[in-house]
Amino acid sequence: MNNHIIKIQNCTVSYPSAKNGQRVTVLNDINLQLQKGELLALVGTSGCGKSTILSAILGSQFPTKGAVFIDNKEVTRVTRDCGLVPQNYSLFTNNTMLENAIAGPILEGTSLQERILFTPIVFLADLFKAQKILKLIRYSRIRDEALANAKEILRRCGLDPEKDGGKYPYELSGGMRQRTAIAQSLMMRPKILLLDEPFSGLDEKTRQEMLDLIYEQWKRYNITVVFVTHHVHDAVALGTRIVCLSQHWLDESGNPGQGAKIVIDKKLSGGAILPSEFVKSEEFTLLTESIRSRTIDKDNPLPIASFELTHPDAFKTKEQNNAQ
Ligand SMILES: Nc1ncnc2c1ncn2[C@@H]1O[C@H](COP(=O)(O)OP(=O)(O)OP(=O)(O)O)[C@@H](O)[C@H]1O
Ligand SMILES: [Mg+2]
Repeated sequence: MNNHIIKIQNCTVSYPSAKNGQRVTVLNDINLQLQKGELLALVGTSGCGKSTILSAILGSQFPTKGAVFIDNKEVTRVTRDCGLVPQNYSLFTNNTMLENAIAGPILEGTSLQERILFTPIVFLADLFKAQKILKLIRYSRIRDEALANAKEILRRCGLDPEKDGGKYPYELSGGMRQRTAIAQSLMMRPKILLLDEPFSGLDEKTRQEMLDLIYEQWKRYNITVVFVTHHVHDAVALGTRIVCLSQHWLDESGNPGQGAKIVIDKKLSGGAILPSEFVKSEEFTLLTESIRSRTIDKDNPLPIASFELTHPDAFKTKEQNNAQ
């Protein structure tokens, strides 16, 4: 037994190739354990398996070999332990900002029959301000409570529910949609927040605001965050730890490896101050440069003995331990 909130143990993921049916390894024997409250930045080139790792933690996809544990319990399905903000906007397009924000508690707290039967009744009672009727309907009480919560969380995410709460996703900017998606996840009070490239497609200023936003929510709700990013800048600005996945590595005999491995696992100094403040420091510049200089590419595969696994919780093979 240990007190790690997330434990990924010997996870391999492979798929049958469309060409010849032979299995192609995507993730190769991944081991990763996270303490509660860590802010983990997961980086790596496109297609190396970052989203696959998030799906395995979430429980929407199972490893071909190995297992994932949350609080020492094996992940066998999606539970409310984890909230995911997926790579592409996850909002319901026919629902307003506020309806999107309350979707989780409504879907969890009410039955389909209740929703079908009471949605029009509550709508009419709302319209005619029939408070006595509204108080009698359980669905209405759950909805009111969720709406009050949602307004507070949307405000904390830098949105204005009074002004914009009735807008549909197509009426919102990219940054507003991402903020709504984050609020939607926070509404379920997950222990773990999984963010898959939460800043993609956003301009520089909005990205910086989003980094600060995630930092503030992490502090406020005391959650464990795993966020995927392509930007070393964002990883260093926000993360307390960086894990870099790469398919370009060499095994003990110098042969190209199959599938991605964790090639860097090290501590970062993010999490102490607001990212927008931290990025101004010399420490930030030095750290970012040191990680960029080790960027792994096709032409520069890293020998397994040279992986940078310096985090106290990093998993090392016997050979890696011997080499250091
Ligand atoms: N259902 C599937 N069947 C076959 N291959 C798959 C399937 N799902 C994912 N893959 C492959 O697994 C690999 C990893 O995919 P994944 O989406 O995890 O990458 P990623 O690191 O998140 O990439 P990106 O940065 O582009 O989002 C890719 O090569 C992808 O083609
Ligand atoms: Mg992805």
